[in-house]
Amino acid sequence: MAGPALRIFSGIQPTGRKHLGNHIGAIAQYVTSQERGEGIFCIVDLHALTVAYDPAELRERLYDTTAILLAAGLDPARCILFRQSDVREHTELTWLLSSVTELGRLERMHQFRDKSDAQRRMVRAGLLFYPVLMAADVLAYRAHEVPVGEDQREHVELMRDVADNFNRRFAGGEEVLVVPELRMPEVGARIMDLQDPTRKMSTTGASEQGTVYVLDEPKAIEKKVKSAVTDSGSAVRRGDGKEGIANLIEILAAVRGIGPAEVEESSASMRYGEFKALVAEAVVEYLAPVRERYTELREDERGLEAVLGQGAERARAIASGTLADVRELMGVGAPSAIATSV
Ligand code: AMP
Ligand code: TRP
Repeated sequence: MAGPALRIFSGIQPTGRKHLGNHIGAIAQYVTSQERGEGIFCIVDLHALTVAYDPAELRERLYDTTAILLAAGLDPARCILFRQSDVREHTELTWLLSSVTELGRLERMHQFRDKSDAQRRMVRAGLLFYPVLMAADVLAYRAHEVPVGEDQREHVELMRDVADNFNRRFAGGEEVLVVPELRMPEVGARIMDLQDPTRKMSTTGASEQGTVYVLDEPKAIEKKVKSAVTDSGSAVRRGDGKEGIANLIEILAAVRGIGPAEVEESSASMRYGEFKALVAEAVVEYLAPVRERYTELREDERGLEAVLGQGAERARAIASGTLADVRELMGVGAPSAIATSV
C-alpha cells in the first residue's frame, strides 16, 4: 500500500485551447512536479461530457491537449500521463464516494451554480457530479498534492472532505484515502483577461482578444498584450483601480520566476507602452518553445496514443489497489478473504 514519498496529481480538461492562465497556473507546476515527486497527470475527457460537446471534436481536442502537455515539458519517462476514460476505476470510485458526499454541498458549489445558470436549456446531471468525479480522480491515487489554479480551490476542499468522511465512516479514522493538499503557484494562480481584468482568463466566457493562447503566433501575442486594458494613470504598480496593470505585473513576474514587487521596482520608471512591450516580449519568449515543439508532436496521433496507453496501464495499476481497499471496507463485492481462497 505504501506509495512514493510525494505523489502529485492533477487533471486538465481537453476542451478548447489552452491559454496563458492554464500554463502559468497549472501546466508549469506539473512540469516542475516531475522533479519533486511522482507526477500523475490526467486529461479529463469524462469531465468534458458535463456540458454540450461534439464527440469527434472531443477526440481532436484530447490530442491537442496531450501534445501541449508534452511540448510544455511533461516527460512520459518521468511522469504518468493518461486519459481519464481509459481507467475505469475513476467512474466506479465516483459512485462509491457519492455515498459520503452530501447533495446540498454539490448544489452550492460555485462552478455548478455558474455553469448551470449559463446552461439554461439543459443542465446535465453530470455537472452536479463533476466534483465527485474530480475527487475520485485524485483519491484513487492517494495523491498528496494537487497543483491547480485558484479557481479549483473549492473543488480541492470538497475532495479533502470526501476523503475525510470516507476515512471516518469506513476506516475507523485511518487515512486509507489520503487527504490531499491544494498547491497553487505563489504568482499567477489567477491570471485575468487582458480586455477585462476583473474576470479570469478563460476559454469560455472571456474575450478572444483578452486571452493569450499557448499556441498563438508571436504577432498575435504582441497585439493582445499591447492592447491590454489599463487605467488612466501612469504608475507601473498594483493598487485600487489598477487591475489591468496588476495583471501584467503578475504575468511578467510569473514568466520570469520572480515576485511582483521586484517587477514593480525594476519597471518603476517605465511608461505603460514601454512596460506592455516588455511583457509582450517576455510572454512570446516564454511560450515559443512550447509552440515550436507542438506541431511535430500533434501530427503523430499514434505516438500520442502510445504515450496515453502506457500511462493508463501504469495509472490502473495504482488505482486498482485503492479500489480493492475501498470496496472491501464498504462491503461491496466478495470479501477479499473468500475471494482469494476460491
Ligand atoms: P482547465 O483547462 O479548466 O482544465 O484548467 C486547467 C488548469 O488551469 C486548472 O488547474 C485551473 O485552475 C488552471 N487555470 C484556469 N484558468 C486559469 C487562470 N486564468 N489563471 C490561472 N490558472 C488557471
Ligand atoms: N476541474 C479541473 C479544471 O477544470 C480539472 C480536473 C479534473 C482536475 N480532475 C482533476 C484538477 C483532479 C485537479 C485534480 O481545471
